[in-house]
Amino acid sequence: MESMHPDMESIVLSQEDIQGIVERMGAQITEDYAGKNPLLIAVLRGAVVFMGDLMRHIDCPLGIDFMAVSSYGNGAKSSGVVRIVKDLDTKIEGRDVLIVEDILDSGLTLNYLMRNLSSRNPASLSVAAFLVKDIPGHTPAVDPRYVGAHVPDAFIVGYGLDYAERYRNLPYIGILKPEVYS
Ligand code: PRP
Repeated sequence: MESMHPDMESIVLSQEDIQGIVERMGAQITEDYAGKNPLLIAVLRGAVVFMGDLMRHIDCPLGIDFMAVSSYGNGAKSSGVVRIVKDLDTKIEGRDVLIVEDILDSGLTLNYLMRNLSSRNPASLSVAAFLVKDIPGHTPAVDPRYVGAHVPDAFIVGYGLDYAERYRNLPYIGILKPEVYS
């Protein structure tokens, strides 16, 4: 059991839990994309950690690329405005594209990306989301083909996820103590 950062209230997924989840997702993706050469697209910055782990558990030829979008305004609440800050370097027409996301929260980011990328005519377009936040009364607009785990509607950090750019390097997923952000 790893030692917990003092700003964490609890650990939701340990390093060991994460490893098991990523192995399972990688094995499933390997099976589904056998004989193909998928392009994995990670959405900066949070998904970088998951992308790095996941791609090493996929046993088929693949490419990677990155996009950056600004999904939120200044506040922590979703503004509904999604803007491409960095676009792909790769042409995706005819490619099997897999969007790699760290967390699906409101689903606005993914919903926008799915619409944007499908207009570029990929052969297929799917989503691998490491986490899906369970928000009472809310059904995300996007249904990912691969989901790592469901997490409660709390302030989750670690494994790529930040609060004010901190905690992305924690090797586990934890819930932040309310006094840290209030
Ligand atoms: C987070 C996360 C997703 C998005 C999910 O990114 O990485 O891209 O929010 O939220 P949604 O489902 O409500 O759209 P964020 O904008 O915090 O940027 P970051 O990855 O650089 O931390």
